Amino acid sequence: MSHQDIRGVIVGSANARVGFPAAIEILRAGGSAIDAAVAAVRAVEDDLDDQGVGTGGIPNILGQVELDASIMDGRTLAAGAVGAVKRYPHPIEIARKVMEVTPHVMLVGEGAELFARYHGFEPADLLTPEAEQAWRAVVGGEATTRSSVYEDSYQLYMQAVKDWVKLLHKEIFGTTNVIVRDLNGDIACAVSTSGWGFKWPGRLGDSPIIGAGNYADNRYGAAACTGRGEMAIRCASAHSVVMYLRHGLSLEEALRQAMLDLRQLDDPFAERHNVMNIVAMDRHGQVLAASTSSEATYVVQTVEMETYEERPRLHVPLHEV
Ligand code: GLY
Repeated sequence: MSHQDIRGVIVGSANARVGFPAAIEILRAGGSAIDAAVAAVRAVEDDLDDQGVGTGGIPNILGQVELDASIMDGRTLAAGAVGAVKRYPHPIEIARKVMEVTPHVMLVGEGAELFARYHGFEPADLLTPEAEQAWRAVVGGEATTRSSVYEDSYQLYMQAVKDWVKLLHKEIFGTTNVIVRDLNGDIACAVSTSGWGFKWPGRLGDSPIIGAGNYADNRYGAAACTGRGEMAIRCASAHSVVMYLRHGLSLEEALRQAMLDLRQLDDPFAERHNVMNIVAMDRHGQVLAASTSSEATYVVQTVEMETYEERPRLHVPLHEV
């Protein structure tokens, strides 16, 4: 594998492309990886057509949009995250603020919203008519049996969860992530999501959990996940990729091994073919991504390129074939 040193590069999930122009401009001007990563993710959070991230995200079972995000600075291993944040459209910026001004890594729910208000973030209505319609179609309307999710019964709740999983489609698992290496060679990784569509209030996936959905370390590289967050949490997938790089595996080997680790999970909710995706960068700025789907893609752009390039992911099926 080539160890060409690539600086001024951004890689991310396919939906992150809408944020690449802002990030590339920052990188070309000599800006930091953190600034570029936040700018890229912020643009996806503002993309109303994206029903898995920011404004326009599919709400939870109660019809409230709850957002999660995290950021990690590969220079220092500083990290910030927020979870289950309502009414604030740019959780990635709140996560950055948590990283920069608090002694904490993660704030959730009302505490995160109080923190955002205190720091001058502007609240907004995150539920678009399209997302509300999707919610009504699944939770209300003809799906009358699902009213059981409001009852205080674990068994009924579990049945409802099984019903939701049957309804999941690619948008429902939507998340965005980017890994950036700036002209100084510093790496940052940022992730944002509205989580599972129709999720239980307060449910957190991997996106706000450092080590699960996001990890960056200048010395070895970085990784970020999209897909069924519970799996990435259980396998600490983002950290695993970086740990495998640390132990001398190539980028492709590290990604493949982290994907193969998922096969150890006994997970009845993981029957969809596109259940987990990881993007990764090594310390030289080389990039690659993997997926349990043979059709998934990722996007990459360097400061020398006029626009992004969309590439197929390394295919590592969840089950042995
Ligand atoms: N990967 C996003 C989530 O599970 O919420």
